[in-house]
Amino acid sequence: MTVKTMQSADVKELLEKVAGFNTSGGDERVKKIVHRVMHDIFQIVEDFDVTPEEFWSAVYYVSELGANGETALLAPGLGMDRYLDIRLDAEDEQAGLAGGTPRTIEGPLYVAGAPISEGFARMDDGSAKDAEVILIKGRVTDDQGAPLADAVVDIWHANTKGAYSFFDKSQSEYHLRRRIKTDANGCYAAQSIMPSGYGCPPDGSTQKLLNQLGRHGQRPAHIHYFVSKPGFKHLTTQINIAGDEYTFDDFAFATREELVVEAKPVQHSDTAAQHGLTGPITEVEFNVTLVATDKAELQERHARRRALETTE
Ligand code: DHB
Ligand code: FE
Repeated sequence: MTVKTMQSADVKELLEKVAGFNTSGGDERVKKIVHRVMHDIFQIVEDFDVTPEEFWSAVYYVSELGANGETALLAPGLGMDRYLDIRLDAEDEQAGLAGGTPRTIEGPLYVAGAPISEGFARMDDGSAKDAEVILIKGRVTDDQGAPLADAVVDIWHANTKGAYSFFDKSQSEYHLRRRIKTDANGCYAAQSIMPSGYGCPPDGSTQKLLNQLGRHGQRPAHIHYFVSKPGFKHLTTQINIAGDEYTFDDFAFATREELVVEAKPVQHSDTAAQHGLTGPITEVEFNVTLVATDKAELQERHARRRALETTE
């Protein structure tokens, strides 16, 4: 039998004191949010008759999640990143800034400061001998279709095992991470290797909770992009390779129809030949449309803790 205590004067008073409502110091917004968060947690305890044993196991779960460095991995798994994107899309809509290539989640594995080059880069270090060689290519335009030169296309992706350099110390520095400036025609191209999908650490805290939900922790093969140019809205997005078992079943909810790209094996690629690569290659083409804005704060990626990022 569930006991009801949430409406009692004792609990109301307790919550107000918890949130510092009876002191003049502190931050008003933080006080209000903490009040709401603690109220809702108390309410959950009441509604689900949470036992002390269950409560403390949740507390220690959160400790373990942090100790494993998985807080920013569980968040997308619980739909937080996707939800924030849904809000940003709605804000863009309201501000008349909708359109262009759709955004999708950044994920927790970006590393700032990748090598930068003009028009073309090779992203892999040649160590994966049997990897499928790919050519990532595309054009950046404005929403009228005019090419945008000197846009910075910042690309990162996993290796054939689904692991990211920097976080996986067995890979060379900035492996599979490059910044490429578009040429006069708005074009960029990169030679790389076909990534594999990512899986949450099987013994980690994120997977432990996903197991309780009957969910997997897999992402399809994908390639991340930041695309930016002064005068345009910064774009955070990624492409999902078509045909992967998880293309439409991503644990992090990043797939969007417009971002599913087919990898096409070709006998000859003009773009590849232009960069000295002859013979069969798999092309992955992704064209990007940026939306103009004069709002400076929308021209940069939002602030968040990122590896090797110094506040610029
Ligand atoms: C997540 C995102 C990624 O792009 C990735 O490679 C791994 C995890 C994530 O959102 O949790
Ligand atoms: Fe990723």
